[in-house]
Amino acid sequence: MKVVAFNGSPRAKGNTYNGLITVLEELNREGMETELVQLGGRKVYGCMACFKCYENKNKRCARRDDEMNTFIDKIVEADGVIIGSPVYFSNVSTEVKALIDRCGMVAKANDDMLQKKVGAGVIAVRRAGATFAYSAINFFFGISQMIIPGSCYWNMGLGRNPGEILKDEEGIQTFKVLGQNMAWLLKKLHE
Ligand SMILES: Cc1cc2nc3c(=O)[nH]c(=O)nc-3n(C[C@H](O)[C@H](O)[C@H](O)COP(=O)(O)O)c2cc1C
Repeated sequence: MKVVAFNGSPRAKGNTYNGLITVLEELNREGMETELVQLGGRKVYGCMACFKCYENKNKRCARRDDEMNTFIDKIVEADGVIIGSPVYFSNVSTEVKALIDRCGMVAKANDDMLQKKVGAGVIAVRRAGATFAYSAINFFFGISQMIIPGSCYWNMGLGRNPGEILKDEEGIQTFKVLGQNMAWLLKKLHE
């Protein structure tokens, strides 16, 4: 089983990254194949509302501007998806929102192509707004008919400068339990 994780922060080795690899390590320990994709800082743009995805129905976005379709392909091929985001003004990063809007619309245009995949959000935050960003990601998974595992707290870790999140013991524990629960759920779904 494969899980693809997106780092929505332009800081490739920042707090979101550290949160994500904590989850991925647990998934690897449980025998899952994982891939970490750097999304933050890439040239990704928003949905054009052209609705060509409803005409084409080819599991791809019609906007030919960037690597978005390679990201959508990775999600289609995976059994589990993790979207990691820093909190930016109480919401997800711009790149994460672009992924949600474009992949979300392509999924709707293709008979809810993400249904029954497992999805989890991972949030890095300095102080406030984490639950809003966490909700934004989970709203996408929910309307896509995906299945969302929980953890012992909401999936967020506190930190400002790169690496500070590692000092947030409760946050790191939450990410570890999330990885364990995601692996458990994937195994149940595929047994
Ligand atoms: C544009 C911008 C907006 C931010 N907005 C918030 C915010 O609303 N709330 C907050 O607690 N931290 C905010 N932060 C701080 C980041 O969420 C925090 O530093 C986080 O750990 C960054 O994760 P990263 O290292 O993966 O980039 C903001 C940072 C930036 C650059």
